[in-house]
Amino acid sequence: MASLGVGLIGTGYMGKCHALAWNGVGPVFGETIRPRLVHLAEVDQGMADRKAAEFGFARASGDWRALIADPEVEVVSVTTPNAFHAEMAIAALEAGKHVWCEKPMAGALADAERMAAAARASGRVAVLGYNYIQNPMIRHIQTLIAEGVIGAVNHVRFEMDEDFMADAEAPFSWRSEGRAGYGALDDFGVHPLSLMQVLFGRVEAVMAQLSKPYADRPVAGGGRREVENFDVASVLLRLEGGVSGVMALSRAAWGRKGRIAMQVFGSKGTIAYDQERMNEFALYTADDRKTEQGFRTVLSGPQHAPYDKFIPAPGHGLGFNELKIIECHELLRAISGDASARVVDFARGLEIERAVHAMGRSHAEGRWVEV
Ligand SMILES: NC(=O)c1ccc[n+]([C@@H]2O[C@H](COP(=O)([O-])OP(=O)(O)OC[C@H]3O[C@@H](n4cnc5c(N)ncnc54)[C@H](O)[C@@H]3O)[C@@H](O)[C@H]2O)c1
Repeated sequence: MASLGVGLIGTGYMGKCHALAWNGVGPVFGETIRPRLVHLAEVDQGMADRKAAEFGFARASGDWRALIADPEVEVVSVTTPNAFHAEMAIAALEAGKHVWCEKPMAGALADAERMAAAARASGRVAVLGYNYIQNPMIRHIQTLIAEGVIGAVNHVRFEMDEDFMADAEAPFSWRSEGRAGYGALDDFGVHPLSLMQVLFGRVEAVMAQLSKPYADRPVAGGGRREVENFDVASVLLRLEGGVSGVMALSRAAWGRKGRIAMQVFGSKGTIAYDQERMNEFALYTADDRKTEQGFRTVLSGPQHAPYDKFIPAPGHGLGFNELKIIECHELLRAISGDASARVVDFARGLEIERAVHAMGRSHAEGRWVEV
């Protein structure tokens, strides 16, 4: 059985998700390529050693460049803050490694363009962490739309809200730095944009308003620092095929924990989905008998692939970490040359970044901007 040497940079929220995925993908999917957990890198040697022991990696470094230089590493998970993605992903690609980089690509469009160019030049697989497109419910919604179950789609509405930055006194972190990007748009908006890309195609034009609920935040050690980007975004969209869209985002929305609410309106029905209830969606079809017409709730089960790879029984539900295992499986399919792998590669990721930057420009200039 072929194997693949894995390097992991960063061990925070996403680093742990990638480690779980690399550990889980073989048992879940019966992979023919077996990941070998070769090398882990963190900000210092002590932390790297501790996390390598916890996550099951053979070697650890306090310098990520040592991981890139390791000839046994064949694929690199980049799970560090946004500002490091370009430098790390490009170094990995230039060293001949495949890359699995967390979203967004980078704060600056020029960096995202350099990443896409490096991926093209390397001939390696380079994909982004757009886990929500992997949900079996989203895959099934895509099938229903393609089958015309709700007719021709004419309008879509997305809301993405969380409350981890709702507290005005929450400490300043890298997420509020200008170099992390526009704020909610890069941190958040890219997820609904990845869903739009998969379900409806290209974003053609945007009109955006960005806002900042809190001007500054406390800094560890005393004082306050100005918030450099925007926690809230409201966007009007024109999608491929003339479909109109609305996207509303906030990472300062008290009470919302992981909401990605999507409504898809068609000529014959409506589909509604919310990531906070990721194991179900609601379907309304106009041709139901008028006497019983209403939204029906569809619950996830083994009939919605690849749910069946995890659990044979319906109704138990998958979670966020399972989406990452599915994403890891798609990455391995791409590495083994399967062109049908369901991934957002760096070329497709760049389209998402272009939409984000068009939104930034639209806000600054107060007008519609073509993507
Ligand atoms: N796909 C998703 O749903 C999702 C969810 C959350 C975050 N993210 C993305 O994942 C990335 C990381 O976010 P997070 O929430 O895991 O952040 P985090 O702060 O929890 O973790 C970042 C980790 O990177 C390490 N790190 C920082 N600089 C490093 C360096 N030079 N070398 C080695 N390690 C370094 C930190 O010590 C930390 O362990 C971001 O780009 C974020 O946008 C994606």
